[in-house]
Amino acid sequence: MFTASDSLKTNAIAALPGQSGARILEEMDIAYSDGLALDMAPLYERVKSVIPSVEWPFFAPYIKAINELKKEKNAVILAHNYQTPEIFHCVADVVGDSLQLAIEAVNAEGDMIVQCGVHFMAETSKLLNPQKTVLMPDMGAGCSLAESITANDVRALREAYPGVPIVTYVNTSAAVKAESDVCCTSSNAVKIVNSMGADRVLCIPDEYLAQNIAREADVEVIAWKGRCEVHELFTAEELQQYRQDDPGLKIIAHPECKPDVLDEADFSGSTSAMIKWVSDNQPDRVMMVTECSMSDNIAVENPQVNFVRPCNLCPHMKQITLPKILESMVLNRTEITVDEDVADKARAAVERMIALSQ
Ligand code: 13P
Ligand code: SF4
Repeated sequence: MFTASDSLKTNAIAALPGQSGARILEEMDIAYSDGLALDMAPLYERVKSVIPSVEWPFFAPYIKAINELKKEKNAVILAHNYQTPEIFHCVADVVGDSLQLAIEAVNAEGDMIVQCGVHFMAETSKLLNPQKTVLMPDMGAGCSLAESITANDVRALREAYPGVPIVTYVNTSAAVKAESDVCCTSSNAVKIVNSMGADRVLCIPDEYLAQNIAREADVEVIAWKGRCEVHELFTAEELQQYRQDDPGLKIIAHPECKPDVLDEADFSGSTSAMIKWVSDNQPDRVMMVTECSMSDNIAVENPQVNFVRPCNLCPHMKQITLPKILESMVLNRTEITVDEDVADKARAAVERMIALSQ
């Protein structure tokens, strides 16, 4: 079994480039065995409704190794609500929506943050923790919203709309945040927009989120043409069909969906607000109109609720896997860096958001 006293061995592993997760497990001498199965039986008992027994022998050694390494490296794993159950329930120290992860990043103890989510989330953690090592297990985990806008685009908007405050969704690069007045997430967007004290506010880059905010905010909202590639797939007609087939079904939707999709929903909110709604209301049957891992993750704590799963998965969130988390921690890769100039301005926009949300 790998223990903290094996750190020399870990350092030796760290010196070897191109290690795969399986090879690292071998070096650590961790394999699925009767002993390991027994050791981890209480954990499996908790997650067995969402992790098939055939998959557990593959996951269990990685979970063991990652949890040991967290202690040795004084690392904290921050995981978004869209991560798969074996990450969400078995290795994460903190789980949450984008706002919670940003706030937790400020409070994070330890020397290292391993971000299980997408690239902009790791950048936000780095902005708020410039002294810590922030690792991203797969740099390919991007976001269609973050890719929809550049810092140059924001500068052009500033010129086209002089004096109009720019509220930027956190699903953007640090360079875009740096050109903004303040950030927002889906859980605080209306509050932030209203707090600008202006008649008109630019709300970028998610077009549908901006349209949904405009319905609740007291000001005129100007949108950009960005879309979440997961949420834009849902249609009002599809939800009407689900309701027709099952009149008792509750439908809850994320505000990155089109406004007419939200019109069909019983509730809409950020991923954590959706989780809270299910936990508070305990519906008999519910459909989560969002990324598919959400239903799996919350089914564990809500065994009486039946989930109807329209499975739209986020290919970026799904880049993060247990083997990649292990590789990342052993090999210290890939470390997130943000140019100091950009970081100072982007941090100010994120910190202003956190202050306005509290
Ligand atoms: P929240 O978790 O803040 O609701 O964001 C959803 C999302 O799409 C993150 O990428
Ligand atoms: Fe981006 Fe949508 Fe994936 Fe979230 S779910 S990371 S908004 S593409």
